[in-house]
Amino acid sequence: MNKSILSLVFAALTVSGAYAQNPKFTLHIDQANKTVSPTLYGMMTEEINFSYEGGLYAQLVRNGSFKDDVNGQRKNPWTPWKPGGPQYWTLTDTVAAKMHVDPRGGFNEANKSALVLDVKENNGGVAIDNEGFWGYPVKSKAHYNGAIWAKAGDGNAKSLKISLVSLDGKTVYASTQVQGLSEKWQKFEFSLNIAAKVALSKNAKLRIAAGETGKYLLDRVTLFPETFNGRKNGLRVDLMTMMKNMNPKFLRFPGGNYLEGNDFKNRFDWKRTIGNPDERPGHMSPWGYRSTDGLGLLEFLTWAEDCGAEPILGVFAGYVLSGDYISGEYCDGFVQDALDEIEYVIGGPETKWGAQRIKDGHPEPFPLHYVEIGNEDFFDNSGSYPGRYKRFYEAIKAKYPQLQCISTIDAKMMSEQAKRAGIEDVKLDVIDEHYYRDCDDMYRAAHQYDTYDRKGPKIFCGEWATREGKPTTNMNAALGDAAWMTAMERNSDIVVAHCYAPLFVNVNKGGMQWESDLIGVDTHKAYGSPSYYAQVMFANHVGDKIVPVTVEDMPKMKLGKGGESDQVFYSVTRDSKNGNVYLKLVNGGKNAQPVTFALDGVKTVKSKAEKWQLSSAHTTDTNSMDEPTKIVPVASKAAVGKNFTVTLDPSSIVVLTLQTK
Ligand code: AHR
Repeated sequence: MNKSILSLVFAALTVSGAYAQNPKFTLHIDQANKTVSPTLYGMMTEEINFSYEGGLYAQLVRNGSFKDDVNGQRKNPWTPWKPGGPQYWTLTDTVAAKMHVDPRGGFNEANKSALVLDVKENNGGVAIDNEGFWGYPVKSKAHYNGAIWAKAGDGNAKSLKISLVSLDGKTVYASTQVQGLSEKWQKFEFSLNIAAKVALSKNAKLRIAAGETGKYLLDRVTLFPETFNGRKNGLRVDLMTMMKNMNPKFLRFPGGNYLEGNDFKNRFDWKRTIGNPDERPGHMSPWGYRSTDGLGLLEFLTWAEDCGAEPILGVFAGYVLSGDYISGEYCDGFVQDALDEIEYVIGGPETKWGAQRIKDGHPEPFPLHYVEIGNEDFFDNSGSYPGRYKRFYEAIKAKYPQLQCISTIDAKMMSEQAKRAGIEDVKLDVIDEHYYRDCDDMYRAAHQYDTYDRKGPKIFCGEWATREGKPTTNMNAALGDAAWMTAMERNSDIVVAHCYAPLFVNVNKGGMQWESDLIGVDTHKAYGSPSYYAQVMFANHVGDKIVPVTVEDMPKMKLGKGGESDQVFYSVTRDSKNGNVYLKLVNGGKNAQPVTFALDGVKTVKSKAEKWQLSSAHTTDTNSMDEPTKIVPVASKAAVGKNFTVTLDPSSIVVLTLQTK
């Protein structure tokens, strides 16, 4: 047999697994001394992909404050305003009535625009319809709470009829009346109840019908279905439940680019996002649409609380996405804003902003350990970050020495930029690293943290994802994610926290700005990607101690873009209270792979372990709104002991829980 035939035969046998080597893992359980960070698994969020508006934030009316006109924004201040009509609203009878937006007609400074509805003739059919964010969710026994600000522009307008109707208007799901309009602005609260049996659907709209002929001024229309924990101005039940199932220990907010904004006016200005939602002006998100700020600072905090998580608070640090920045003493206003924000989160009743939080409805302070100064300031080519960072760092530490500050640039860049700017003595507690990679690059990086300096700053991997598949990721991405999570977990003595990004994508047409996301959302449903299920598996099976592992005979696999990596990725932790050992394994290979284990330093191991597995026939397989559970973790039992072998299915993620003493 010549050499090339021999190598072909060898390659075939390797693919079939016959000649692949079987790795042996020795778990040194009695040497599990390093502590797993208690905040290791968490979530990152920002307003992107219509995550809140039309997503998590349960409010259903789109453009309820009539700020968006079909003509769009004025190009410049000297272009005369020509109102075309409110976006996402339609008038049912354009002969009997006319409508337009009056940009100076609203009921307060935060809601300057109002809708003017002039009804000349009324046979009961004059109404305005709101299409919502891709429809309104209807289902049996649904209950909705709403409000509308209204006033009569003349003496005739007196009442409104508000309904949820089918798209053709023929089916009325629920209806109510508001009465007593006068020539003063008033807020009318109402509820809608669907008593009849109706199929779950998003093919519905909100209808507001004029009761009389006359002139109506309308503003800030809101409608909420049931919310998680029944919170007023609250969040969607299905999405909160999905996040709770991720067992997150923290929520990083409010971004991401959403923290910075495209310009100073549109940064996340937290003081404009608290208090009565009717008094929040909202702003443009950098992802191209308006945020009402109904989901503001307190709602972020209670969201974290309702998921059992603590906040990792990103504070605005004087740099916006256009590249503008403010530095030196000009930054001090923003430093004070950050101190006030921290006080809002953790201050007592004797403090100004703690008292404000209590007034806003949350007497208890929130737990807080980490504050992040800015976001991705490695994009700031001016080199202003060290100066800005230092001002924030020193002010935060002086007032709150118990807090850890997170830098958004690494130690090398910090020291180079600081040197150039003549800034000395910049201290680093934690560095935020962001990684968006493909699966092979995740495999390649699986030992990245093994060699990090243990005496240097800690690491927060504040954004990462294996970007394969869209709108949500596929099985291959979940494999890359899982391999990367084993890398972070094994090194969670220095990786204090990590979170996937982005968390949500609204899969309705036009909802996505960023491909490859964790959870797909539409108007009335949601589903988790394979990456989501990998997170759920990992975050729900983690001990408090890292178990050192000796690996022999690790098989290697070739990677698509060249080079090779390990085939099996692993992390082992132990719960020091109950003795459970959590064994996480990822087989990146296309062949089934036996792996042998020896447990050192335990007296007994129960013979059956709980086993969770995530896998699919093809790595390009994925979940979707139509097939939400095509790929989900499957539970079974595995035979284990002090010495045992597990055969990993091709392209699979496995978590074993061993009960040891
Ligand atoms: O996660 C999407 C974006 O990626 C974030 O807003 C930003 O921080 C990063 O560049």
